[in-house]
This record gives sequence, structure tokens and C-alpha cells, in this order.
Amino acid sequence: MSDPLPLAIVSGSGAAFEVVGIVENLRPEGPRFAISAIVGSGELLADLAGRLSVPLLADVSSLPPGTHVAISAGHALQVQVLAAMARQSLLSATLIHADTTLGPWVTIGQGSVLAPGVRVTGNVLVGNHCQLHTGAIVSHDGVLADFVTLSPSVTLCGGVTVGARSTVFAGATVMPGVTIGADAVVGAGALVNRDVADGATVVGVPARPLPRG
Ligand SMILES: CC(C)(COP(=O)(O)OP(=O)(O)OC[C@H]1O[C@@H](n2cnc3c(N)ncnc32)[C@H](O)[C@@H]1OP(=O)(O)O)[C@@H](O)C(=O)NCCC(=O)NCCS
Repeated sequence: MSDPLPLAIVSGSGAAFEVVGIVENLRPEGPRFAISAIVGSGELLADLAGRLSVPLLADVSSLPPGTHVAISAGHALQVQVLAAMARQSLLSATLIHADTTLGPWVTIGQGSVLAPGVRVTGNVLVGNHCQLHTGAIVSHDGVLADFVTLSPSVTLCGGVTVGARSTVFAGATVMPGVTIGADAVVGAGALVNRDVADGATVVGVPARPLPRG
């Protein structure tokens, strides 16, 4: 068996702890990784780096070329880190926890991270750099564009499309065939039964747009 590949975890929060759990329990068909650094700041990440006995780095600039990087953060930080990675020949890690279900004709894009309990049923495209948190469900014929985040226990029914950089927060349900535009936000617990416009934030049951302040 080949040696595990070095992996740095970039995070803006304690979500990095979850990424460690994913790295330690990956599906067997992909490469194995050994965490070589935590990138970020703050007490939580310092604590995590200490527990792992790896350095806490302020940014990715000192990582050796060829190091894989997993980013657990909002879109702005993702973009910033990806630009720095490109300058230094760092690689995006795709991390899929062993306790995931991936049905037939499912494609998972580069740099995406799938947490335990994620279920992706069949004929689904998950784009690049998506973050699917614990227990998120993507039913048949779904399409997630790049940089989509699904929080824990989100349910996307069949035929749902989510546009680039959009976030569906915890426990929301999106009804069959609904299209969520780009840069949209679905609030926690929402029931989305209509299409959501680009850039809109919707909340509630049924979900309706939050008026802009
Ligand atoms: C949708 C969301 C992003 C909106 O945040 P925001 O723009 O800061 O909105 P505010 O907190 O100012 O709330 C604005 C109004 O919407 C309501 N509202 C906010 N989120 C709501 C939600 N999820 N469901 C129903 N109503 C909601 C508020 O009660 C408030 O109504 P009011 O003016 O009558 O009091 C946020 O509330 C949310 O749902 N975050 C989810 C966090 C989450 O799930 N994280 C997952 C990590 S595991």
C-alpha cells in the first residue's frame, strides 16, 4: 500500500474538526491522506493542531508543492486560498467519508468534501469545491454547481438544481424540481417549494424571500 499523501486543512472555524474525522474514515477506493498542517487562526484551530501534533500555519505559502489541501470555509476564503494554491502548485483534495451512499451515475467534483451520512442517490452531479455536511441528502437527477454548501440534514428532493456559491442551511427541505439560483441562501428549516432567484435569501415554511434591509 502506498504512503498516505500530505494534506493541509484550511478552515475558518472548528469545522476543521469534522474534516479530520472525514480524513480518518475515507472511502477505500480513493487515496489516503496524512494531515501535515492546519491553516488558519484562533484557539480552536490551535487546539486542533496541538492534538494532531502538526503546525498551525497562518496561510498556505509555506506548504511544499504537491501538498493536498482541503478547505472548510465560506466562499470568499475558498477563492482566496484556491488562488494561493494555484501559485504554489498545491492540489485540491476530494474527501468522501466511508459512511456515504453514492448511487449510480453520481459525479463528485474536485475539492468537494462529503461528511458522514451524506446520501446521493442517482444521476447526480456535485460540482467542484462543494461542502456536503452530515446527513445531507441529494436525491435523483440533482445538480449542484461549484462551491455549493449543504448544511447538516438538508434534503434536496429529486431534480433539484442549486446554483454556484449557494448555501442551503441546516434542516431545510427543497421540493422536487425546484431550481435555486446562484449566490442564494436558504435559511435553516425552510421548506422551499418555488424557484429561488439568484442572490435571494429565503426562509420559512413555505420559504419566502427575506426583504433586503
Ligand atoms: C437565513 C439566515 C442566513 C438569515 O440570516 P440574517 O440575514 O442574519 O437574518 P436575521 O437573523 O437578521 O433575521 C431576519 C428575519 O428573518 C427571520 N429568520 C432568520 N432566519 C430564519 C429562518 N431560518 N427561518 C425563519 N425565519 C428566519 C428572523 O427571525 C428575522 O425576522 P424578524 O425581523 O421578524 O425578527 C439565517 O437566519 C439562517 O437560517 N442561518 C442558518 C445557520 C445554519 O443553519 N448554520 C448551519 C451550521 S451547522
